[in-house]
Amino acid sequence: MGGVGFAVSGRRGDDPTQYPGKLTWYVVMTLMAAAMGGLIFGYDIGISGGVTSMAPFLEKFFPSVYHKQMDDTSTNQYCKFDSQILTLFTSSLYLAALVASFFASTMTKKFGRRKSMMFGGIIFLVGAIINAAAVHISMLIIGRVLLGIGVGFANQSVPLYLSEMSPYNYRGTFNVCFQLMITIGILVANLFNYFFAKIEGGWGWRLSLGLAGVPAIIIIISSFFLSDTPNSLVDRGREEEAKTLLKRIRGVENIDAEFNDILAASNEAKLLQNPWQNIFKRRCYRPQLVMSIMIPFFQQLTGINVIMFYAPVLFKTIGFGSDASLMSAVITGVINVLATCVSIGFADRLGRRTLFLEGGVQMLIFQIAVAALIGVKFGVTGDVTELPKWFAIVVVICICFYVAGFAWSWGPLGWLYPSEIFSLEIRSAGQSVNVAVNMFFTFLVAQIFLVMLCRMKFGLFIFFAFFVIVMTSFCYFLMPETKNIPIEEMTQIWRDHWFWKRFMDDDHVNGANEMTRIEQV
Ligand code: BGC
Repeated sequence: MGGVGFAVSGRRGDDPTQYPGKLTWYVVMTLMAAAMGGLIFGYDIGISGGVTSMAPFLEKFFPSVYHKQMDDTSTNQYCKFDSQILTLFTSSLYLAALVASFFASTMTKKFGRRKSMMFGGIIFLVGAIINAAAVHISMLIIGRVLLGIGVGFANQSVPLYLSEMSPYNYRGTFNVCFQLMITIGILVANLFNYFFAKIEGGWGWRLSLGLAGVPAIIIIISSFFLSDTPNSLVDRGREEEAKTLLKRIRGVENIDAEFNDILAASNEAKLLQNPWQNIFKRRCYRPQLVMSIMIPFFQQLTGINVIMFYAPVLFKTIGFGSDASLMSAVITGVINVLATCVSIGFADRLGRRTLFLEGGVQMLIFQIAVAALIGVKFGVTGDVTELPKWFAIVVVICICFYVAGFAWSWGPLGWLYPSEIFSLEIRSAGQSVNVAVNMFFTFLVAQIFLVMLCRMKFGLFIFFAFFVIVMTSFCYFLMPETKNIPIEEMTQIWRDHWFWKRFMDDDHVNGANEMTRIEQV
């Protein structure tokens, strides 16, 4: 089993022949179907910014905001469009997802990853229908909360599903497909908004909100056909089924090495009844807990959602007309999708650390460039009436480079890395912490961005750049590489690490042994 392999020759994962198997069509199709779970999250990120800038939508549900915007004659570009109620509508989804992710943890562990995905899809579908039919603001909010619950369940279960189901040396590739679906969801939503805003009669927003049901249906149908992961099956006592499945997904008869590692992890997991108590233990679990909090925190503090939520507003601010602003948001959306594909190709080859570090440096350079450009042209007063075309184009190009940097680093790896580092006994709980922290900071950025822009002006980009420096240093010093290491052998990376090894016991595989010892005492 796992522990023996490390002791002698370093990590098992360094030896790609350790777990026999090949990439089967069955596993590829299964993983592609599961990755669709990212679509609902992405669609939501992309849709709300555009819908809340459609005049008929505002007039119907937020008349005071609508009239305020109509009457706004100020030339201060930094302080436009500020409405807490409107942003609360957008961000209520993330609060709901935050709470839901904790319930999802229990469901994912007890009933399996697949049921959580299916449940998430169904709740999301109901939310989309209520939103599309909304005649009152309460329907909008209820719908939005249901969408949030769906996202909470999907984001909790899908990355785990992908990481457990993938052959370990392709885990990066397949897990990044989750992010690819997020970016496709964002892009499709931006395109829909662009076209639906033009529909005469002003009911385009109903289509924008209602079509969220399509990705939900895709997930519900695909999760019907998916099998659960071998790890989850073993964890729930269905060992024979897990063996048969492993043979099918790995395409070989000899799956003993992998099966035994999963079984060992599961046996250790059974000694620990309450994952929530254990995840907070200093010994063994501290590095995992720190990562599950810091990674989503840093991912959001890159400032990416300023672009994802507010690109049209931002582009309007720098002098584009309404149509051109929406079009530029579509351009950044395309870059986001294309750059994510780079990560699909390289996460397992170059490794996570290289991408994290390169992405960080790239984001930093272009954030500072955007801050300098806006600072020079807008100054601290923000009073500008006309801006040259070249200026707007250069800003859009810089933003595209920044988005690309995020899209091949913190975007996909922010979901991949946490989903692969937890030991089985706390995996589901750890992933909930990851989702909850992510949602909390997504909420916070959505909620306070416009206030911050008004107060900090171009300094806002320096604020995010500061965090990019912190997170890149954090990666450099504190993030061990996880590429090519089987998921149930991951605890070894902490034991080998100059800093984290102080939290690990030397004589066992993971925290379960600590519990055993405590019980014996
Ligand atoms: C993040 C989202 C972000 C998206 C952009 C995701 O990984 O979690 O907050 O909007 O990437 O592509």
